[in-house]
Amino acid sequence: AAMGREDIVREELGILHGMPIYKPFIKVWPQVEAFQARPDDLLICTYPKSGTTWLSEILDMIYHDGNVEKCKRDAIFNRVPFLEMSMPDMPNGIELLAKIPSPRLVKTHLPVQLLPNSFWEQECKVIYVARNPKDVAISYYYFHQMAKMHPDPGTMEEFLQNFMAGKVAYGSWYSHVKDWWEKRKDKRLLYLFYEEMKQDPQREVRKIARFLGKEVPESMVEKIVHHTSFQEMKKNSTANYETLPDWVMDHSLSPFMRKGIAGDWKNHFTVAQNECFNKHYKEQMKDSDLCFHMEL
Ligand code: A3P
Repeated sequence: AAMGREDIVREELGILHGMPIYKPFIKVWPQVEAFQARPDDLLICTYPKSGTTWLSEILDMIYHDGNVEKCKRDAIFNRVPFLEMSMPDMPNGIELLAKIPSPRLVKTHLPVQLLPNSFWEQECKVIYVARNPKDVAISYYYFHQMAKMHPDPGTMEEFLQNFMAGKVAYGSWYSHVKDWWEKRKDKRLLYLFYEEMKQDPQREVRKIARFLGKEVPESMVEKIVHHTSFQEMKKNSTANYETLPDWVMDHSLSPFMRKGIAGDWKNHFTVAQNECFNKHYKEQMKDSDLCFHMEL
């Protein structure tokens, strides 16, 4: 049966290969799994709320030689289709990808284990962005309020417990960042950090360009950094998701471009929540050499 809006708004999550995810995404999973990547597809991969949209805009700018008008040709979710996405009354990720010319930018939040095989077979380049988990949790909490395909997040306390337990869409943040970190040993994967992008966006844009093998003059680096700043993206209707209908994202509850800083968790975590989170973090990350800046 076709899914209607009433089937997704505040609906509980389903489970896909052990990972909690929106039920409509499970419906299209066979098509996603069979997706045929092309060798020149570039995959943008993140755990939700880690800077996906920011990196997507940077890449579209690099792909269009810093031409702002070309980057305003369409909304970000059409320029950089979301691979596993499916929603009632909207083209799904697979359909959007079939329509755009190569070289394509592809967005996914999938963990390593669930990435369709063709990306590995075609040896596609991948750029991963990770963000510190405290800010991800806060950002995800507000996103639950405005993006109505999520269940009600409850109180901050309840949400933090669910986040730590991996009982949110895309499961455990800890496994996601660690598993993709192990994959970076493969030279076709560039692993970036949101905090480093905040700290020195010029350096990170140059790093991305180098990874793509693309010559980007300094004047273009400056232009890209300016156009993809939080302030610019917040007022850019092709980047800020405001063109989606209210039943999908209601920006009056919380804007998609909310704060765009490192360390906002300090305005939200209680001392007790922070201690509990730190203890759990240490336990979860003890088998990894991956390090995060919790603030700048
Ligand atoms: P906050 O909720 O902390 O503000 P994603 O695109 O992966 O869903 O991530 C969304 C988060 O990235 C939000 O974080 C959003 O404000 C932030 N963000 C979006 N564009 C940004 C930019 N140009 N610079 C800094 N942060 C940005």
